[in-house]
Amino acid sequence: MAITAIKGFNDILPEETGRWQYIEQTARRVFELNGFSEIRVPVLEKTELFCRSIGDATDIVEKEMYSFTDKGGNSVTMRPEGTASVMRSLIENKLYALDPVSKLYYMGPMFRYERPQKGRYRQFHQIGAEVTGINDPSIDAQVLNMLCSFFREIGLTEPQLHINSLGCPQCRPAYRAALVEFLESRLSNLCEDCKRRFSANPLRALDCKVPGCAEATAGAPAMIEHLCGECDSHFSKVKHYLELTGTKYQINPRMVRGLDYYTRTTFELVTGLLGSQSAVAAGGRYDGLVSELGGPAVPGIGFAMGVERVALLLGERDFSRQPDLFIATMGEAERDAAFRLLAQLQQVGIWVEMDYEGKSLKSQMRRADKLKARFSVVLGSNEIASNRAAIKRMADGQVTEAGLTADAIKMIVY
Ligand code: HAM
Repeated sequence: MAITAIKGFNDILPEETGRWQYIEQTARRVFELNGFSEIRVPVLEKTELFCRSIGDATDIVEKEMYSFTDKGGNSVTMRPEGTASVMRSLIENKLYALDPVSKLYYMGPMFRYERPQKGRYRQFHQIGAEVTGINDPSIDAQVLNMLCSFFREIGLTEPQLHINSLGCPQCRPAYRAALVEFLESRLSNLCEDCKRRFSANPLRALDCKVPGCAEATAGAPAMIEHLCGECDSHFSKVKHYLELTGTKYQINPRMVRGLDYYTRTTFELVTGLLGSQSAVAAGGRYDGLVSELGGPAVPGIGFAMGVERVALLLGERDFSRQPDLFIATMGEAERDAAFRLLAQLQQVGIWVEMDYEGKSLKSQMRRADKLKARFSVVLGSNEIASNRAAIKRMADGQVTEAGLTADAIKMIVY
């Protein structure tokens, strides 16, 4: 029996990779325009890195990590996200000492043992960006503007920006106590997951999708009403800077996020087009993470988008590439001429396909059609003798005579 891929791990086939490259190239262009440089971090890290950063009581760490003991007896984990690894690298390589402000982006596979469905996979891909070293709320807005301009650039205007503030270690404990007090009498109505994590992380009940939890938490106190003065002022300024640049946002006081490292600003880009997988991108500020991981007290903010979800949103758009020219040949001598011409045309940047197997002219033209070649040319003994041929535009059959040189053909097919 043939071996199949692991459930939740997908091939990205050639017909899809055009779309992926378009997403990746647009992200690189937009991020680099904003002064970000690429960082590439390993796929495998020490398990402790994710326990310490994402948090022991999160779904990711409790249930979803691909962790195993390697042959040296060390517990290692296939990264479930990128922020922890990038911060580990920042600390280990003392990037903050080279420049107190770092702007980094990354792209690559992440791994979470979740129940696969449309838009949710066990190996998925993120494109993320992280800024460290800036406390000012203007950078929060700048990061959000960059994310929104990426979506504008790729032609998606539908995802809505939702923002919230999760406060800081000064104001969150009092809020948490108020929430616990509110939820205690409603505990029996919460789902099993929310009950289980109630003592470690009661906030998660706020964005639980189970209808009973939504009912039980209706009217619960919101973090943004319990912010300390500094967090409140930070949040107001983020909104101010977003308004300055005309970035539309909605405040979602129930957005909690599934990772523990967040402080203050958190956000999601939400779509109604992907069923229950509504977040296309998400992130927030994490001012305590670098010091929690053993580095200096450097603040940070960033986001990651799910590439599969962005690709799904791009829908039916055609990203396939077509050869510029198909050279059909009538015999052995013409094939030699075609082979030489192909090499010359490639050197001037023209994508050429030809027949390598001596197929009939009819079958060669079928191949040209299948490849959707933009132009075709048939080389017979007359064309070789005169060193000229008719270049046919496939879309409308228009024919242009040209000499059989790379430069002459380039003038036509470009
Ligand atoms: P996250 O919300 O866990 O945040 O993931 C970010 C995005 O990755 C999600 O909005 C979604 O588009 C995509 N995603 C997550 N899990 C899956 C999955 N199983 N299948 C497909 N797509 C998925 C983080 O990972 C943070 N590191 C974001 C961040 C960066 N915060 C600050 N900096």
